[in-house]
Amino acid sequence: MEINERLTAYFEWFHMHPELSYEEFETTAKIKEILMEEGIDILPCDLETGLVAVVRGERPGPVRALRCDIDGLPIWEETGLPYVSLYEGRMHACGHDFHITAGIGCAVLLKERKQELAGTVKIIFQPAEESSLGALKILETGVMEDVDRIWGLHADPTNEAGTIGIREGYVTAAVDRFVVTVKGVGCHGAHPDDGIDPVPAAAAIVQGVQTIVSRNVNAFHPALVSVTRLEAGNTWNVIPETAVLEGTVRTMDRQDRVLAEKRVRELAESIARAYGAQAQTEWIAGPPAVYNDGGMVKVSIEAAKARGLKVVPEESSMGGDDFSFYEEKVPGCYIKVGTGKGQLIHQPGFMVDEKVILGTAEYLAELLCGE
Ligand code: NI
Repeated sequence: MEINERLTAYFEWFHMHPELSYEEFETTAKIKEILMEEGIDILPCDLETGLVAVVRGERPGPVRALRCDIDGLPIWEETGLPYVSLYEGRMHACGHDFHITAGIGCAVLLKERKQELAGTVKIIFQPAEESSLGALKILETGVMEDVDRIWGLHADPTNEAGTIGIREGYVTAAVDRFVVTVKGVGCHGAHPDDGIDPVPAAAAIVQGVQTIVSRNVNAFHPALVSVTRLEAGNTWNVIPETAVLEGTVRTMDRQDRVLAEKRVRELAESIARAYGAQAQTEWIAGPPAVYNDGGMVKVSIEAAKARGLKVVPEESSMGGDDFSFYEEKVPGCYIKVGTGKGQLIHQPGFMVDEKVILGTAEYLAELLCGE
């Protein structure tokens, strides 16, 4: 079978067998099986799910990495594709099936170009990207220790096949979560003077944290605060003892991230105090913002042009990607690959145009071989 047919068959298999974060056992076994059939080496790594392939060039050079995430989502597929997900309520709705296949294709093509390949390329099949923490599993193995640069790709259903989105600078946001617990004193609903009602305090905190973006962050910096859950009480005539609000803060600039955390804590605690209540803030830090290195962006654009791909400015997003954890170690570049216009990622009708698979593998091979 020609490589194009093989890659299409692999893609369809992965699409039909989506697995959730940290449960990618079948997926890992299948990637392993394919890599062995294709004669690609696998690095010994202590990973429950996910694996790392390696292609060693015959010329001396640096070690570079490509990150391909492998997990699916708890979504009921509604694409009507002939190779629809076999698992009810699970779907590759973020295109990670495409990332896996492009990564395999890249490895196969690099192996064919071993003589011209300078250095080593590690292809990381990373678990649990959707959990925001899967990258840490890979980092724990030490496989990144000798790597000097890392590339990542993502399917982009806002662009046609044959289009590559690249841009220097921040392209995704830091993803942080907060939980504020406001503690008052419960009492009868008819006698608020007997207690301390946490509800108006919580409402004032919801209003207060909205001023972080409008009053504290530089107006030229992207940032947002969303309160997404607000809970208090369980009936109509009792003033509850506590109210809880939860939400997310998204920032791109590092300083803004520090500032936003400080302001959420200050506002929550001082507003609660002004109402006679007390607030405690729990801050759950997620991945930092993904930042595209200028030099790597240039190389990535050149490789795209060499492959006849159309280069467009990459849209940045207030969503996140744990790819940024690798960038705490080495410079990185996160590329958006046009997969044909259609439903957005994480939607039940999201689809990847199969035509882009081989072209993407060829592009990645060009990029990783070319330096
Ligand atoms: Ni994704």
